[in-house]
Amino acid sequence: MLDAFGRNIRYLRLSVTDLCNLSCRYCKPRPVPKLRHEDLASIDELMSFLDAFAALGFDKLRLTGGEPLLRKGLAALIEGGVQKGFTVGLTTNATLLAERAAELKSAGLSSVNVSLDTLDETVYRAVCGGDLADALRGIDAAVRQGFPLKINAVLQRGVNDDPRPLIDYARSVGAELRLIELMPFATTADYVADRAPDSRSLLRQWDAVPIGREGKVDRYRLPDGATFGLIAPLTHPFCAACDRVRLTCKGELIPCLHRPTVYPLRPLLKRKDFVSILKSLIAEKPPRHLLAEGVYQPIDMGSIGG
Ligand code: 5AD
Repeated sequence: MLDAFGRNIRYLRLSVTDLCNLSCRYCKPRPVPKLRHEDLASIDELMSFLDAFAALGFDKLRLTGGEPLLRKGLAALIEGGVQKGFTVGLTTNATLLAERAAELKSAGLSSVNVSLDTLDETVYRAVCGGDLADALRGIDAAVRQGFPLKINAVLQRGVNDDPRPLIDYARSVGAELRLIELMPFATTADYVADRAPDSRSLLRQWDAVPIGREGKVDRYRLPDGATFGLIAPLTHPFCAACDRVRLTCKGELIPCLHRPTVYPLRPLLKRKDFVSILKSLIAEKPPRHLLAEGVYQPIDMGSIGG
């Protein structure tokens, strides 16, 4: 569907759980109380949401979390999404993926994006609070299932100052590496101020040459021919080409990741005119984020969904 700014909005990022087995410093900076069961949208409700989004022409679905593999009924949701005409992708930390990859493949999952910021076990444990070996096993399993694979690494000082190991690793498993600028949220502004590198000076330091933009990803080549993508919502915003909205596991619509506007939709789901209500809310998606003006999302990324 078209929004008020002529953008074709067709991509839903659906957070299926608030729970995560990791605690990445920039995502869930402090423990958040677990949601009460009754505050979580049920799988049936999520299916009804998907029907409504499909009716509006949405055809791309990404399941996120928290960590989506912690949600019971994930495979059923993937199957349902595929039946409703969506191409379904998953964003995961991969630490629980090794045992699940085959099941998700049979359910119809199309692709996997793995969040992996470093290949140093000690740094991984310090920043994400988990075991790197688990994530690498998960990635191997995804490769064995033949999933198209992307690896997302959030740029942080002292964590991945040198992209080389991640580039080489991504290439060795046939994945595309995307470095992501560390984005500030109201709850993580201090961490971000300490740890966010200036991506432009990093690119200069690495002698990275731009070789084109594909959607929101800027592609670069290093002097030895290795390539990587950079997602730069701060220094090279892609709001004008934004085609997505988010739905939290509580059934709240978030039209723009970085704007505080949140619409709790669960109470409206049974209404006959739900699709047209949804349409009018999405049509009002803001034209751009205001990060440069210092307007930060008060909800942390872990609760919104990646
Ligand atoms: N800044 C940039 N990227 C982030 N992600 C989570 N929080 C942030 C942040 N503050 C990334 C995750 C995941 C993707 C969906 O978003 O690492 O790969």
